[in-house]
Amino acid sequence: MKKETDKSDLMEKIVSLCKQRGFVYQGSEIYGGLPGTYDYGHYGILLKDNIRNAWLKHMIQLRDDVYGLDSAIFMHPQTWLASGHVGNFDDPQVDCKNCKNRMRADHLLESFGISADKATIEFINIELDKLRGAKKLKCVSCGSTDLTAARRFSLMVKSNLGSPVDTLTEENVVYLRPETCGGIYLEYKNTVDSLHPKLPFGIAQVGKAFRNEIAARQFIFRTREFEQMEMQYFLHPKDMEKSYEMWKEIRHNWYLNYGIDPKSLRWYKHEKLAHYASQAYDIEYDFKCFGGFKEVEGIHARGDWDLSQHSKFSGVDLSYYDEETKERFIPHIMETSVGLGRLFLMFLDQAYTEDELGGEKRVFLKLSKALAPVKVAVFPLLKNKPVLVEKAREIYKVLQKEFSLEFDSNGNIGKRYRRQDEIGTPFCVTVDFDTIEKDDTVTVRDRDTGEQERISVKELPAYLKAKLS
Ligand code: GAP
Repeated sequence: MKKETDKSDLMEKIVSLCKQRGFVYQGSEIYGGLPGTYDYGHYGILLKDNIRNAWLKHMIQLRDDVYGLDSAIFMHPQTWLASGHVGNFDDPQVDCKNCKNRMRADHLLESFGISADKATIEFINIELDKLRGAKKLKCVSCGSTDLTAARRFSLMVKSNLGSPVDTLTEENVVYLRPETCGGIYLEYKNTVDSLHPKLPFGIAQVGKAFRNEIAARQFIFRTREFEQMEMQYFLHPKDMEKSYEMWKEIRHNWYLNYGIDPKSLRWYKHEKLAHYASQAYDIEYDFKCFGGFKEVEGIHARGDWDLSQHSKFSGVDLSYYDEETKERFIPHIMETSVGLGRLFLMFLDQAYTEDELGGEKRVFLKLSKALAPVKVAVFPLLKNKPVLVEKAREIYKVLQKEFSLEFDSNGNIGKRYRRQDEIGTPFCVTVDFDTIEKDDTVTVRDRDTGEQERISVKELPAYLKAKLS
């Protein structure tokens, strides 16, 4: 009989599974770890690639109006002055004087139900003082009440390029990009000049971004180095509302397409907007591992801020000339922006399942088949019977051309099923004595139900293809 998953310590279970089964490791672990960095292992990169490809498929392949880009991480330092990041891209920080723990002041206030989204430092300090007065303000790590006032903390990660000396100089400053869209604005003109798209059109890219996050301790939810998947849709301002609604629907449907329960999603409308934005909604997912809704993706109407600023700072005309209407204008931008690592955690959060199958407890990842890191595992029933191993290897070689596959002959069949369940493999194929002696069929076992079917070896590729499509 099936049992409900115990979600009480789900985060611990996910972190542990990720480490034990080679999905995600703490970065630099042998040196004690580097906070806010994570390394993705074998199954981690397979799952991450599948999520990335699912995004690229829907954002570029299935559309006629979106183009791809892979821009450099390092950009001219003026880029970030123009965008307003230098000097303005910061979070409010509070330090514990006792244990030196650093905390996001806005998150501290939010834990008391006080909204501090994009609030001024003055507002934040007034609210913190009220909590201090009521003896409610405490360090989230050691419980001390000895906390500093809030101050602005820049999220920009700075480096030097081409510096002749070892010490960092302002003269040679470069920034590790804090968001990938910066590169898209810089290549807007080249895209128009080389591909000649008509408005509205989009440019999409996936790549690394870096932020000196104050508190990066929620596993891969918030990290200092992460991958963003962003699409900037360039349009005439009259088309903003229509495009905004269209992309909201497209992005929402993307989550449903890959198995996210619609009840676990909701929209959050930002009341306080960034200086460049005229509308901003987040897609929030109900993380069982955090016990509540959190942002996974932002959808922003950015106006003409980005291209106007880069035009001003570079001196290059970034206006668009509409041949039909004879109108020249700076295109407005509609943006969709999501973190790949954050989606990875969301999919694991939804997929992690504990149940009982055939009287045995098991953990399995109920991932959408399209995202599962390994699609099919092939087993010989017994490791010490060469005739079974040979036949299983033969089948494995044929299927390997089509699917991400695994071969396993270690331990009993039950253990091999458990191992595949834990990494979310949808199908396990077993070669047994009937395959050899009777009818050239194999058993195909379904991950979610544990049910098995006998399928002829000849029909196996087509059968699996149909099941996995
Ligand atoms: N270009 C707009 C932009 O970057 P954002 O709200 O700062 O907007 C968009 O980030 C998305 O990027 C977030 O919804 C989240 O999925 C992801 N993201 C942002 N900071 C992150 C971090 N430190 N670690 C992991 N993902 C992050």
